[in-house]
Parts: sequence; structure tokens; C-alpha cells
Amino acid sequence: MVGIILNKDRFLEVVSDTERIEDSKEFKEKIKQIKDSLETKNDSLYLLNIVGNGDTINYKKEILISNLQQIIESQTLERAKYYLERLKKGIEEVKTSKINDINLNRWKEYEDLTTDSLWYWKSRDSSGVHIASYWGNFIPQIPNQTLRRYTKKGDWVLDTFSGSGTTMIECKRLGRNGIGIELNPRVVKDSKELISKEENPFKVFTDVIEGDSRFISHENLLKNNPNKKFQMVIMHPPYHDIIKFSQNKEDLSNAKNLKEFLEMFGKIVENVTPFLENNRYLVLVIGDKYSKGEWIPLGHLTMLEVLKKGYTLKSTIVKNIENTLGKRNQEDLWRYRALVGGFYIFKHEYIFIFKKTGNKDRLIDEVVNLKEQ
Ligand SMILES: C[S@@+](CC[C@H](N)C(=O)[O-])C[C@H]1O[C@@H](n2cnc3c(N)ncnc32)[C@H](O)[C@@H]1O
Repeated sequence: MVGIILNKDRFLEVVSDTERIEDSKEFKEKIKQIKDSLETKNDSLYLLNIVGNGDTINYKKEILISNLQQIIESQTLERAKYYLERLKKGIEEVKTSKINDINLNRWKEYEDLTTDSLWYWKSRDSSGVHIASYWGNFIPQIPNQTLRRYTKKGDWVLDTFSGSGTTMIECKRLGRNGIGIELNPRVVKDSKELISKEENPFKVFTDVIEGDSRFISHENLLKNNPNKKFQMVIMHPPYHDIIKFSQNKEDLSNAKNLKEFLEMFGKIVENVTPFLENNRYLVLVIGDKYSKGEWIPLGHLTMLEVLKKGYTLKSTIVKNIENTLGKRNQEDLWRYRALVGGFYIFKHEYIFIFKKTGNKDRLIDEVVNLKEQ
């Protein structure tokens, strides 16, 4: 969507003059004039005439034009004035919530921020230093979308399974401080190198620490952070043993069985929970697996582990998985196997969104006792 840069003072002046008009026809004609002036770019009202040191407004052109059109099409003068007032407010005031920087007065402009629970991404964002070569990394759109929804600029983010550093790269781009924990020393070294190549326009702090997320001291990690808490935690654990990330027995991908895998995962949630600010968010990204003719619901089992630790589930997102080249060549074989075996081929994984509420008022407690025994 094309952006348009307006002279802020001039735009507000024209809007204020228009607000004073009491005749409906005249009012709408003035709005039409504003719209034409922007659309044709002849700038008859000098709205685009940027002056030295003057304040500007950056607006998505299509949305501004559609807002003006909505005013023109209003049934009553009162309604038209209400829409104009709303447009003016969006320029004069920034209205954000406690957990992000989305300007709610201009919410229509965030059309790339998804609010649906079904995510379909055709391809991964491979811009800048992002790489696809770390087998098992997530697409950058996952941290990008969730960081923008659940953090503000300058907030602190923890990734307990940092891998190739996708979250840290997005933190740098979006102006969030980030700490990643990664067990595998080689992966730590490579990811640090990669992250350092990403520009740091907001001068944030990012680092990847080698360690086991079950036992790492978060207190130590937060020593540079004045309020000693994280504002978001993102977790992308191994999908049990589908991909073996190392030979290390501390690695979740080497858990002996499902029970041990869930215990190890639960321990990591428990370790970080005291260091996540109350009413902030934990994002869990995981897929299921298939083993000995049985669909193992890793997603739902790990989700229950998080619920046990005092979180409220806010959303379950289902995200598409695009086949890697290798798998694509085997598509026919998989389709045949599925038809024979009575199963469906994995095409999705989950993103669970939790809020740290401390078990308060959860309806789910009525049917299942999720409190830690
Ligand atoms: C699915 S990958 C995460 C990929 C990451 N999201 C990315 O975009 O690159 C899981 C990572 O967790 C690491 N890991 C496994 N067990 C761990 C543990 N106990 N503590 C910390 N990291 C661990 C693995 O080495 C692997 O790199």
C-alpha cells in the first residue's frame, strides 16, 4: 500500500475549518475537495506542501482516501462530522494499549498484522540476514507478528530455544531487546555471527547465551534490564525426536520418551515463569508427530504443560507448513501412504498464545484440574 506524507499543521487546519461548516452539502463538497486534492496530487489545498522543520503525517493513501469517502457517503451531517473527528483524532493522538505500540486510532493501517487464527504464509521472509538453512527454524513472520502484538519498543524478549537466531534478528528490526538461550555451542556461535550482521537501528541489546533453558539463571540474564522481567517469552522446542538437534542428553530432541520430553519442556516453562511480567504473553510454536501408526498430539500436550503453570490460553493458531524441496519430491509417495494408512499428511503446526494470569478465573479449571500436583 502506498504511503502519503502530509503537512500535518495544514491538514489539521483544513479539517478544523471544515468542521465548522453547518450545511451538509457544503461540508461534503469540502471533503470531496480534500479527497480530490490528494488523489489527483494537484495539491490544490497545499496538503502535501511540506515546509522546512514542519511536522508531517505518514498515512496509507488508500486508507485515507477510503476514510474520506466514508465521510462523503454518510447519511447525516452528524455522522459525517463524527467520522471527520475520528480521522482528526487519529492524527493528533496516539492511542496504544499496555502491551504494544499499535496506534488504535489508526488501526486500519495495520492490515499486515494478522488477527485470524488460521495463518497461511506462502513463503518465508528471506529478507536481510534471515536464512532458511537451519533445519527446524521457524519463519521470521512468527516472531515478527507476535512481537508487534505483544511487546512495545524497548521491551525485553526471551527465546528459550534460540536456534539460528530468528527471534533476535526480528528484535533488532523492531527495536526490542532480546535474549536467546541455545544448548548447542556451534549453533550459538553461528547464530551470534548472523545476528551481528543485522543492522541495529534502534540500538537494542541482543545476545545468545549457551545453556540449558531448564536451569539457566534468568536473574543473571536480566542484569542489564532495569525492571528485571521479560515482557514476552517465545518457545519453539524440538518437536520431540522428529529432528535430532545434537547428541546432548540435555537436548529435548533426545528425551527418551514422550513423558520425559514433556517433563523437560515443563521444567523450562517453570524456570522462566517468575521472570515474565504478569499479564504478559508466552508464545509456543510446535507441531505434532506421527509414530508407529499413532498421531502424537505434541501441540496439545505441551499446551497443557503451560496451562499447568498458571497461564491462560488466549488463542490457538493453526499455521500452514510448506513442504521442503526434499519432501515435495516425495509427495506422491506420502499421498499413497496416507491413503493406505488411513491418516492425513501433516500440513500444519500450532502457535499457542498464553497470558500469564496466575491461574485466575479460568473456566478450564471447572473441567480439568490443571494445577501442578
Ligand atoms: C526448533 S529449534 C528452534 C529454532 C529457532 N526458532 C530458529 O528459528 O532457528 C529448537 C532448538 O532448541 C535447542 N534446544 C534443545 N534442547 C534445549 C535446551 N534444553 N535448552 C536450550 N536449547 C535447547 C536445539 O539445539 C534447537 O536449536
